[in-house]
Amino acid sequence: METVVSGIRSTGKLHLGNYYGAVTNFVKMQNEYNCYFFIADLHSLTTHPTPADLHGNVKHVLVEYLAAGIDPEKATIYVQSDIPEISELYLYLNMNAYLGELERSTSFKDKVRSQPDNVNAGLLTYPVLMAADIIIHKATKVPVGKDQEQHLEMARTFGNRFNRMYNVEYFPEPYAFTFSEKLVKVPGLDGKGKMGKSEGEGNAVFLSDTPEVIRKKVMRAVTDGGPTEENQAKPDAIQNLFDLMKIVSSADTYSHFDELYNKCQIRYGDFKKQLAEDMIVATNPLRERINDIASNSDYLRKVSKLGAEKARASASKTLEEVRKIIGFKRF
Ligand code: TRP
Repeated sequence: METVVSGIRSTGKLHLGNYYGAVTNFVKMQNEYNCYFFIADLHSLTTHPTPADLHGNVKHVLVEYLAAGIDPEKATIYVQSDIPEISELYLYLNMNAYLGELERSTSFKDKVRSQPDNVNAGLLTYPVLMAADIIIHKATKVPVGKDQEQHLEMARTFGNRFNRMYNVEYFPEPYAFTFSEKLVKVPGLDGKGKMGKSEGEGNAVFLSDTPEVIRKKVMRAVTDGGPTEENQAKPDAIQNLFDLMKIVSSADTYSHFDELYNKCQIRYGDFKKQLAEDMIVATNPLRERINDIASNSDYLRKVSKLGAEKARASASKTLEEVRKIIGFKRF
């Protein structure tokens, strides 16, 4: 069975776009592959979180992935910092990662631009840590978006360089696993592109949003003056709301409002009210699970312990072999 590794940024909570997109696919993948999903809290240290934020964010992400259906018995779900072998492999890989190639990474250049006062060495070697995350389990598939292509290419470079340097065929090459067409497109509420948390307050509906917050956000979604001709094409902002309705509402509800639109009889207030209520109903079970799991410390302790045990079993085996290949020897 092929091994899959994916790191989850430990900043921020899940929105509907994440849920109907990547997370739903993770839930499917856990039945078909040997999956390692981890919360990338070591990577988050590059932004200097406070101790409370660091733990709070990790908990948030863990709770929401479990609520969304990641099964800790099927997949290995763990916290990156629970696996010291990752940091060790990162150190070894750093010895063969060169300043020039690290400086050329687009994500590094972006960070230099966006946070010029905090250009730390961790940012520079972010791709090395990510390579360690992946090759420590000898993964061949990494479900990530386009923005991570370059990091994956660097992971292949570092793994291959290790192999060449020690004349071994040890690390396999990891490649992106793209869901592409299979991904449901979830638009945001700002009338523009897809749902994203960085697109401004109100554009994204989070799994943990209360029904009141969801109503407020949906009622504030961008619309227009309404259709003036029968069967006219929908402008982007309206099409986006219909796309959201297609995801959360019944087919009947969708065609009801579609017909009203085509007959120029739609009232956006009613339309959005319905959309908000259906969104609330669709996410109710998730919200309940999130609240249950978040308040169940015993369960979280058990899950993270199990994940760490499974991940360490795989990681320590790799490290033992890596140390031997490098030439460390006990007296
Ligand atoms: N860099 C990834 C992101 O920003 C997160 C990540 C860290 C990751 N380590 C990884 C993803 C290993 C896949 C595999 O989303």
